[in-house]
Amino acid sequence: MKVTVFGIGYVGLVQAAVLAEVGHDVHCVDVDQTKVDNLKKGMIPIYEPGLTPLVTSNFEAGRITYTTDAASAIKHGELIFIAVGTPPDEDGSADLKYVLAVASTIAENMDSHKIVINKSTVPVGTADKVRAKILEVQTANDKDVSFDVVSNPEFLKEGAAVNDCLKPDRIILGTTSDVSEKKLRELYAPFNRNHDKIIVMDVRSAELTKYAANCMLATKISFMNEISNLAELFGADVENVRKGIGSDPRIGYQFIYPGCGYGGSCFPKDVQALVRSATGVGYNAKVLEAVEAVNYRQKEKLFDYLMQHYNNDLKGKTIALWGLSFKPNTDDMREASSRVLMEKLWEQGANVQAYDPEAMEETQRIYGTRSDLSLMGTKEATMNGADCLVICTEWQAFKAPDFDAIKSTIKDQVIFDGRNLFEPSLMSEYGLQYYGIGRGLSV
Ligand code: UGA
Repeated sequence: MKVTVFGIGYVGLVQAAVLAEVGHDVHCVDVDQTKVDNLKKGMIPIYEPGLTPLVTSNFEAGRITYTTDAASAIKHGELIFIAVGTPPDEDGSADLKYVLAVASTIAENMDSHKIVINKSTVPVGTADKVRAKILEVQTANDKDVSFDVVSNPEFLKEGAAVNDCLKPDRIILGTTSDVSEKKLRELYAPFNRNHDKIIVMDVRSAELTKYAANCMLATKISFMNEISNLAELFGADVENVRKGIGSDPRIGYQFIYPGCGYGGSCFPKDVQALVRSATGVGYNAKVLEAVEAVNYRQKEKLFDYLMQHYNNDLKGKTIALWGLSFKPNTDDMREASSRVLMEKLWEQGANVQAYDPEAMEETQRIYGTRSDLSLMGTKEATMNGADCLVICTEWQAFKAPDFDAIKSTIKDQVIFDGRNLFEPSLMSEYGLQYYGIGRGLSV
């Protein structure tokens, strides 16, 4: 089928690649000429396991093309995805200016029936706004071409995006049009073989499903972080509690890992956006406000441990920091806990020697060159001359370090672990002091 994707970001590029992989003919449009030129040269703008070979092979096979020419791309696609960004506005609500700009462009250039599909995470009611925008621009241009607007939210996880897209656990189609449903079922048939993953519903329910999913997951995390803080105060071990509750299938083991807070481009933004949307319809979303507040506090947890350990005096301390990305297998630093920590450490006059398997360039891009940040080539190198070790991200490569080397290199022989990678009893055997989330200090 002939498909057009607006926005060659995370969601758009992965979506385009998997659709091309099963044989669809995909034209990708972006306003960023450099990005388009780079993609044509095989330079992929994001780090995502498995994406480069997928994109490259489909580009070489001619099933993906990149362009800034929206008019020709709109002519091409009978199905047009909108996968542009919806950054948070000043008040935390999702800014729809890019989505609506694409809607205008589609309206100006369409000359046959189009199915416009919202892939971006957008507030409930956005499909109606897209529809209204297309009608408005058509009217202004004296046009009357039929179209439909469908909500088809994306549920991919960074770091597992290709797999999530190739093997989705659900495909939500928000439409009441039989024609659109039939076309989208045909589009997604290759991903819907073993059992029916397609769930069809009205547009607003589909839009809310996306927010509800992310907010539910964020709620699980904040809830668990709250329990971890209580565990510490009660003298319990949150890791035992986690296993204890996870064994109940109604709760489950997934997404109940306590840590130094959730980050990324989705959870913080989506929780805030749903809170703002709720306010817009006169509702105070108290659970979600608490989810956000708990996460905000949790991102300061490692800093609080450090202040406690060093009697509120971090001036001149050198901190070895492992993990900068908001989670493993990505170079994404958006809303990463490491940033909150580093910025608070710098305020106190501490120095950071950091390492991340993928996010070094991104850290450099964000913070530039500064005397209190040294980006090191290996995790071992961060420890040279450091007073303590802090872990912010649970990369696989951090899970079995040489504890003897840590003990002999780190001056104060102490680890602050924001992801509970190690057993406190093992740390004691190595003679290391150890702070774990919901576990406090063990010596
Ligand atoms: C999230 C959702 O998981 C996807 O389903 C969704 O499609 C995506 O947002 C989106 O809206 O586009 P992602 O932001 O890539 O995906 O990241 P997650 O893997 O969900 O992790 C989010 C954060 O939660 C990370 O900082 C992670 O460290 C933290 N987390 C996760 C915990 O602190 N504890 C857990 O038990 C699980």
